[in-house]
Amino acid sequence: MKHNIKIVVNGDEYSLAVDPWRTLNEALREDLNLTGTKLGCGTGDCGACTVIVDGRAVSSCLTLAVSVDGKSVTTVEGLAPSGDELHPIQEAFIKTGAIQCGFCTSGMEIAALHLLSNNPSPTELEIRKGLSGHLCRCTGYNQIVEAISVAGEKMKKCCHEEERS
Ligand code: FES
Ligand code: FES
Repeated sequence: MKHNIKIVVNGDEYSLAVDPWRTLNEALREDLNLTGTKLGCGTGDCGACTVIVDGRAVSSCLTLAVSVDGKSVTTVEGLAPSGDELHPIQEAFIKTGAIQCGFCTSGMEIAALHLLSNNPSPTELEIRKGLSGHLCRCTGYNQIVEAISVAGEKMKKCCHEEERS
């Protein structure tokens, strides 16, 4: 039997009828067509499916859709403030060459958002710890670490000030 759930995704409210075994990843990608969140391993090991649920970074492949009923979800589609403007994290990933095939990117950027929201000035070690559980087969990670550091500096000047005002 399907369950009716209400979730807010990137500020928009949705009502869905989902099977009890349907994952949040399936609900986002297949029901809401938000395909920016990737499905890699499907077993909680790669981080490609990471989204933020009520302030916590979670693997959407291991999260049942019914468990997010009434909760707020942020996916990579919610990063950019508008259609013609990128988030500082996205800008930094492009500027530093932190994207190659791009498969890990949405999970990495959501991890970066989660990290920088909780720690606006992370050390390199803290960034690397924040990325634990996120696999990238292309970049060697150094550019991703640099991107998060660059984004953190920019967000301190813009985004956190906006949050405070
Ligand atoms: S697809 Fe969820 S952790 Fe790999
Ligand atoms: S850019 Fe290809 S897996 Fe990270």
